[in-house]
Amino acid sequence: FQEKLLRGKCVLITAGPTAEPIDPVRMITNRSSGKMGYAIARAAREAGARVILVSGPTALESPYDVQRISVTTARQMHEQVMQHAHDADIFISVAAVADWHVSNFQENKIKKTDNTGMDLEFAPNPDILALVAALENGPWCVGFAAETENLLEYAESKRQRKNIPLLVGNLAQDVMDADSTTMVLFEESGHQQLPTLPKLAASRQLVKHIALKLSA
Ligand code: C5P
Repeated sequence: FQEKLLRGKCVLITAGPTAEPIDPVRMITNRSSGKMGYAIARAAREAGARVILVSGPTALESPYDVQRISVTTARQMHEQVMQHAHDADIFISVAAVADWHVSNFQENKIKKTDNTGMDLEFAPNPDILALVAALENGPWCVGFAAETENLLEYAESKRQRKNIPLLVGNLAQDVMDADSTTMVLFEESGHQQLPTLPKLAASRQLVKHIALKLSA
């Protein structure tokens, strides 16, 4: 049972990894199952919101009654997010977006030659969350950060750098590909840790927290 706390609201969510091509048969990607973002999409839908899920490549089924837009690269994700950001009341950026793309991408398959290495060049990808947070009259923004150490320090400084009201931090080694999560919510007023819960149960708590913030 979930109260319809987000009835009439539109929630835009990114989930999964992005993948950046090297050539037509090879790419570089981030470790992300997409489970967290998909669970949040489901919880937001249960709470009565219209949900748009912009997803990188995952093996997951779309949650019930959620509009899913599939993308591969960070630049495609950025484009789709920008197309929908002005309709959204809330933006929840869960995707593990690649920080760079391969700037010397080859149109044809790179041939392997014996005993030689391979040089890749990288150019930065847009920081989708920071760009949405900077929009005038944009949605209320929630970020995610998986850190391997110094969670309290890194997560709060990331929240401030991206200029967002809420950032959810967790330890990468605990959540990667896992079915449960321990979220720490970082806000202007300080941080609080939620109990360790299956991702859907944690998502319902997070959605409730966001809905109450918005109506406050
Ligand atoms: O900067 P960092 O990747 O650590 O921040 C994590 C947050 O920023 C996540 O919410 C992630 O979805 C978002 N992000 C983004 N675009 C990027 C990099 C991160 O939206 N290029």
